[in-house]
Amino acid sequence: FPQFRRGRQGLPLRKGETILDHARRAGVEIYSECGGKGECGRCVVRVERGTEALSPPTDAERKFGLGEDLRLACQAVVVGEGDIYVYISEFGKYSILTETRRREVPLEPLVRREGDRVLYDGRPIDSYRGGIYGLAVDVGTTTLVLEIVDLETGETVGTAARKNPQVSYGNDVISRIEYTMVDKYGLRYLGPEERMERVKELQRAVVGAVNEEVRKIEGKISHLYTRWWQWGTAP
Ligand code: FES
Repeated sequence: FPQFRRGRQGLPLRKGETILDHARRAGVEIYSECGGKGECGRCVVRVERGTEALSPPTDAERKFGLGEDLRLACQAVVVGEGDIYVYISEFGKYSILTETRRREVPLEPLVRREGDRVLYDGRPIDSYRGGIYGLAVDVGTTTLVLEIVDLETGETVGTAARKNPQVSYGNDVISRIEYTMVDKYGLRYLGPEERMERVKELQRAVVGAVNEEVRKIEGKISHLYTRWWQWGTAP
């Protein structure tokens, strides 16, 4: 079936949706400072295959005088059949400095071991299975940084950083709030159900990215893998 490619994975195409809509669903970050209104010109992508399945360039795109094969992801709408291959230059090239100066702090985790039990704030929540780990996540406007910490020793056992996938919904918080409140033309307030669906969409973007990074850390630290595999479904 027609697909929007992300590496070897595919995503079914939906007619009437833009490339940006598809990228959001695929969890692929495309900068969209204006939140998809065709005003900022940040969402430029190169269409490598499938141009004929896209709507013609809009006035907003012409205003930016884009080169051949370049489109604004928020303006190019899927209208026809066939696979579409899109090159996103920013994708995968992002790196964030995760090493910082550290300050010694006393180790006082809320989750502790007591004999063969694990307690959360004094209440038993599980039996001890050989280790207790905590996940610290810093959800920034543009970046996500996370650390897995051994709560018994205070050691950091894994670190990851990536772009916050919500950048595809606008570069600042206001644009993202706007995405959850009005339609993309700014002409209509969304109903409560539609709003809630969009809020969940933004949440899913972050939760999905966190799970993806945790799984990568699991892959690198083999002794964590068997104990943490359920994180993907219960973040
Ligand atoms: S022009 Fe701003 S997101 Fe497309």
